Amino acid sequence: MLSSMAEPAPERSVMELATALQEARERTLDLVADLTDEQMIGPRLEIVNPLRWELGHVAWFQEYWILRHARGEAPTWAEADHLYDSARVAHDTRWDLPLPSKAETLAYMRRILERIVEGSRSSPSAGRGAGGGYDEAYFVQLAIFHEDMHAEAITYTRQTLGYARPRLSIARGRGEGVEDRAGISPARLGDAEIPGGRFWLGSPPGPRFVFDNEQWAHPVTVRPFRIARAAVSNEEFAQFVEDGGYRRREFWTEEGWRWRESAAAEHPVYWRRQSGGGWLRRDFDAWVPLESRRPVLHVNWYEADAYCRWAGRRLPAEAEWEMAASAEPAAGGVTERKRLYPWGEEPPTPDRANLDWRSMGTVEVDALPAGDSAFGCRQMIGNVWEWTASDFGPYPGFSPGPYKEYSAPWFGNHKVLRGGCWATRSGLIRNPYRNFYRPHRRDVWAGFRTCALSPAP
Ligand SMILES: [Fe+2]
Repeated sequence: MLSSMAEPAPERSVMELATALQEARERTLDLVADLTDEQMIGPRLEIVNPLRWELGHVAWFQEYWILRHARGEAPTWAEADHLYDSARVAHDTRWDLPLPSKAETLAYMRRILERIVEGSRSSPSAGRGAGGGYDEAYFVQLAIFHEDMHAEAITYTRQTLGYARPRLSIARGRGEGVEDRAGISPARLGDAEIPGGRFWLGSPPGPRFVFDNEQWAHPVTVRPFRIARAAVSNEEFAQFVEDGGYRRREFWTEEGWRWRESAAAEHPVYWRRQSGGGWLRRDFDAWVPLESRRPVLHVNWYEADAYCRWAGRRLPAEAEWEMAASAEPAAGGVTERKRLYPWGEEPPTPDRANLDWRSMGTVEVDALPAGDSAFGCRQMIGNVWEWTASDFGPYPGFSPGPYKEYSAPWFGNHKVLRGGCWATRSGLIRNPYRNFYRPHRRDVWAGFRTCALSPAP
């Protein structure tokens, strides 16, 4: 089962991938179109990057891996490595760099992208050799996904800094274009019963691009369990807050309580009590009434874990999450076959998953029943990232990909999240995709679903 190398998707040529890279770029540019040079530096915070740095870094990453590494070209700008190499430029020093203006940064991005596209036209198979066995298509695909991830980060940076909601041509307005409600209250969706058994966790070798941390599918034994068919809603989380959840030590781990005290947290970070009762939620630069049926968002791992203890529940392990999303029932357990998406093999569509900024926010937790998994779990792809109980670590036989800093430096002190959110690209997310953040992060688009403590009711 184990192999040492991911293969590029064979069905897409370098030229087709370069077109996809241009499409990813349009999204990135849309996300910053209205921001000033000052806004694109912003305050020095542990959880965000100055946006001028982030854009330059996206272009540098493409120059480094596609033009220099895969095609063997010389650097186009001697200074770029000292500014934009995330492995070499410490995070808290990025505000002190002599960063070019927004216009200059955009010009650098354009220059690099044009070169990539030109090269892909003139010699679509160029680039073999210097990549050490990974061909140019692999690095173009890596660059697309890297840009997608930064586009999501730019979106949460805008939320963190209280900037206006981005105006994107793809967004059809809140909830429009997706079914907002299936008419069932989240609590009534209840739990799915998963029979457990042997399960192949991770991605199998094959033609599809796979990140190093998903390599490779390996058998694990999962005990029978029950997992919520829907994510925890704002209404459910508000009950925990109103019940004094943030003041009751018994619901928190020692580390979680230390975080809670140091942050003086009383409720989710973007919530505010409304005079006269109820809650408001900050949505970019606007305060809106908390939507009871939407998933709780911007809670960190400690908050999710404390909620679970209060509710007499627990977070799913990542193997349980992936099994609930991708396995199919069979006599006495599950089939060996795994689905790439909860609904099957077809790529995401708007009626199955809230992705791609289409709704410019979350939809209600019981919406989009067409995207249910074989066990009836809803929205496992899209809407909100879901914290799992699992620490981020290597699968057996792990071997880092060419971009060595993608996974390995973060093993050990990060938690795994699954499923993607409304600002995740549909081309990036699949059932086995592993995201990872440190447990104190409340700024990312994360919520969670819970499991029952016992396998049978
Ligand atoms: Fe990056």
